[in-house]
Amino acid sequence: MQRRDYWNFYSAGRIVFGSGVIRRLAQFVQPWQAKRALIVTDATLVRVGVVAEVTSPLQSAGMTVDLFDGGAPEPSFAIADEAVAMAQKARPDIVVGVGGGSNLDLAKIVAGVLSHGGHYRDYFGYGKVPGPILPLVCIPTTAGTGSEVSHAAVLTDTANQVKVSSLSHYLRPALAVVDPKLTLTCPRQASADSGIDALTHAIEAFTAMSYDQLDVPVDEPFPYDGKQPIGDCLAERAIELIGQHLFKAVHEPGNLAAREGMALAATPAGLAFSNNAVAVVHALEYPIGGALHCSHGAGNGLLLPYVMRFNLPLRIPEFKRIAQLLGEDVTGLADAEAAERAITAVERLRASIGIPQRIRELGGTREQLPLFAQKSFAIKRLMVLNGRCPTENDLLDILQAAF
Ligand SMILES: NC(=O)c1ccc[n+]([C@@H]2O[C@H](COP(=O)([O-])OP(=O)(O)OC[C@H]3O[C@@H](n4cnc5c(N)ncnc54)[C@H](O)[C@@H]3O)[C@@H](O)[C@H]2O)c1
Ligand SMILES: [Fe+2]
Repeated sequence: MQRRDYWNFYSAGRIVFGSGVIRRLAQFVQPWQAKRALIVTDATLVRVGVVAEVTSPLQSAGMTVDLFDGGAPEPSFAIADEAVAMAQKARPDIVVGVGGGSNLDLAKIVAGVLSHGGHYRDYFGYGKVPGPILPLVCIPTTAGTGSEVSHAAVLTDTANQVKVSSLSHYLRPALAVVDPKLTLTCPRQASADSGIDALTHAIEAFTAMSYDQLDVPVDEPFPYDGKQPIGDCLAERAIELIGQHLFKAVHEPGNLAAREGMALAATPAGLAFSNNAVAVVHALEYPIGGALHCSHGAGNGLLLPYVMRFNLPLRIPEFKRIAQLLGEDVTGLADAEAAERAITAVERLRASIGIPQRIRELGGTREQLPLFAQKSFAIKRLMVLNGRCPTENDLLDILQAAF
């Protein structure tokens, strides 16, 4: 098998970043000359006034704005059906997702189906979206998932109790408007959960299997490239910023500097993971989140240190670097000991923002673990991307440790 001898880097079409910049939204979307926008969001964001900050500049510019506010955390197929049905009636020229990853992913699904018809189920997997989609604007209100720049859209298959995703570079938004002020109203729990999700993205990207070691033939279409240099730069900076700002963003919700730090971390972490990789943490979270109904971020945050411990022996230099980025003083320590500090730093941060530490705290039972391991192991792409390729038994061991 010929391995990869090159890597790629993809992004959103344009990223605008700035506190208060949402008031200039009409100027940013002007190139599309759109007359009708559909906003995909949820009732909470309408209630706290975030949606008004998005609609008013568009309406002032003479655009007709339709609103789908039926989004909800970890959106189900039923919600996607409603959103698509409304969008098909509204027939917008641009789709604007406003919210955390849940609403942004829904907006991607809506834009995909509006552009190419068929059913969104046809788009699950990699490379199934047939071509470019309607102009898609994503405006994150958590800091966060990185969905505003990523190629992923995730829904929850409630019948089979598992998350399912569509991965396509056509789903990368044409425009991401990152205004940290929009995260000021984000509740403590959502700030903690989405923040640790961003940390998980950066750590999984930075410790992934290298692009030239991936056990995937060079000519096989594959949604991630593995560890590569641009993704690494972004991941390193994101880890450092999260170490500096996550605690404050959670405990001092009105602290704009902390919110800006986290916003400035989450988008690059999204670029890092959506080029390099997410891996075993995310693979394990998919069935756990589907069955135990925890948020994506809480599940990832819970699992992250356990997976790091599994990966540690093959990723000593990376873990040492992560420890330094998280502010650990590793001078004088042997490399293995310094690397270990990355895990303890993540455990401390996790506990300090109230992320659960055990699967049993989420209501899981020991009897469920083999099925979780089996379902995770079936997500083969995430196994080969992990810095240390696990067996199904390894996954079960990680889950037992995390139980
Ligand atoms: N597409 C991707 O690349 C990607 C990556 C990671 C995760 N995800 C997905 O993202 C989802 C999780 O997204 P999330 O962690 O951003 O949370 P979320 O979108 O589920 O939001 C959580 C809650 O916080 C509320 N909220 C969000 N911002 C707010 C604000 N500024 N003010 C008041 N309330 C606010 C929402 O209304 C919601 O009730 C999961 O479905 C996950 O699978 C997607
Ligand atoms: Fe994630």
